[in-house]
Amino acid sequence: MKLMIKKGAALKQKTPCLIIGVLEGKLKEPLLQELDKGVDGAYTRATRSKEFTAEKGQTLLLHAGKNLASERVLLLGLGKEKSLGLNGLRQATSFAVKLLTDKQLDSFLLALPQIALKKNSLAEKVQAVAEGVLLADYRYERYLSADRPGKSVALDRVGLLIGDKESKAEADAALQNAEAITAGVCFARDLVNAPGNEKSPEFLAMQAVSMAEQLGIKAKLLDRKELKRQGFGAMLGVAQGSERDPYLIVLEYRGSTEDAKPVALVGKGVTFDAGGISLKPADKMDEMKMDMGGAAAVLGTIMAAAQMKLPINLVAVVPAVENMPSGTAIRPGDILTSLSGKTIEVLNTDAEGRLILADALTYVGRYQPRVVIDVATLTGAVIIGLGHHAAGVMGNHDGLIRQLLKAGERSGEKLWQLPLWEEYAAQIKSDFADVKNTGGRAAGTITAAAFLQKFADDYTWAHIDIAGMAWEGSGKAGQPKGGTGFGVRVLVDYLRGVAK
Ligand code: BES
Ligand code: MN
Ligand code: ZN
Repeated sequence: MKLMIKKGAALKQKTPCLIIGVLEGKLKEPLLQELDKGVDGAYTRATRSKEFTAEKGQTLLLHAGKNLASERVLLLGLGKEKSLGLNGLRQATSFAVKLLTDKQLDSFLLALPQIALKKNSLAEKVQAVAEGVLLADYRYERYLSADRPGKSVALDRVGLLIGDKESKAEADAALQNAEAITAGVCFARDLVNAPGNEKSPEFLAMQAVSMAEQLGIKAKLLDRKELKRQGFGAMLGVAQGSERDPYLIVLEYRGSTEDAKPVALVGKGVTFDAGGISLKPADKMDEMKMDMGGAAAVLGTIMAAAQMKLPINLVAVVPAVENMPSGTAIRPGDILTSLSGKTIEVLNTDAEGRLILADALTYVGRYQPRVVIDVATLTGAVIIGLGHHAAGVMGNHDGLIRQLLKAGERSGEKLWQLPLWEEYAAQIKSDFADVKNTGGRAAGTITAAAFLQKFADDYTWAHIDIAGMAWEGSGKAGQPKGGTGFGVRVLVDYLRGVAK
């Protein structure tokens, strides 16, 4: 697909379809009055009869008369300017793209970057609209037969129209950023969507290494032997139930000087979570192929950061394992010695994410990171608390959390802070080891974070629980059913702030 910035008068553009965003209460803008002449008054008739009021989500498709260069015009209701914002603009774009591709239209021109949003720059609007287009064009079709009739077409040529007085250079740069970010998101979605039989820890490692090679990112893998030699006892404990070898994946992107301390990202990489001996129920167990959504997010993020050439140093670490029940699996009651030296009593083998993260968090300490952020599909409890609308964030530094919350608002990948008061740590005290891996039903998301905190004490750290966000269960515009790539957009936004 070719996505490009266009300049010129909207109504003079030759295209199969011109998409014009209309704000509620602004039905009589000069452009729309002029449009009316090109469609022989059909616009006025539709607004007068209240068929089209520009309410959010409303659309009106008009076939143009002879005075218009485009073959069709799609009017897209955006609601009130106050409640629109960049997220609304991105979502409305995806919505329009889906509407047209469902009608088999693969090329069109969007006049959406011209929409008046007083608080936002041209670059922000172009980025939002371009993301909306690119995310709506995503499909996972690896396992579909080629002759299977698809409902919607893939995009061919899409133009983004900016105003005559606006800067083409600024818009082009924003478009490039959107392409880098969505490439990271779509890479993450592909990884999450890959089925468990294909997606071994080794598969995840190979995907990471080949992505890194293409972008000049340094890559390193620690295999079972090396993990054993160094003492990754918690991670190896989880891995021992699976026939498949575990890997610690380490990627290093250098965008700044050698002495600049890196930001470290750690992503939970459980390629399939059956629960181990504490086996999960059968219902929806298929979705547990998404249990490497955190890994996908940090890999997609470092990919986007490298493509954008962000002037920072970045390390991404992914402990990749499979959590299976077997004769060699760890049992409830087992005690593991982690890389940090702390011992862990395993009361539930299904609380495996925190075990592998414990060792990964200890490992990243070697980089003397300025900040560590881990991303994980860690607890079902975060879905009870926040549903499928936000990820939970906790940590040991309020300033970092504030920055992440802001990045969440800007990017549309919402985060919500939960408290990590020291009282919660009492729930993970063990009688037989330094700590235990479950804290009971109460505040399950927080006690999981309290567990991680014991291994993240030496640096500024935040933990993002994306269990409710890594998988879309039904599918919507811009986000088909399956892996979401959640985390890439919010992390890239955060990193751009660090780079400033
Ligand atoms: N991977 C799951 C958490 C999860 C649940 C992710 C639903 C996505 C959707 C995690 O490993 C897990 O099983 N957590 C347990 C922890 C409990 C045993 C303390 C949970 O949340 O039930
Ligand atoms: Mn589990
Ligand atoms: Zn898990």
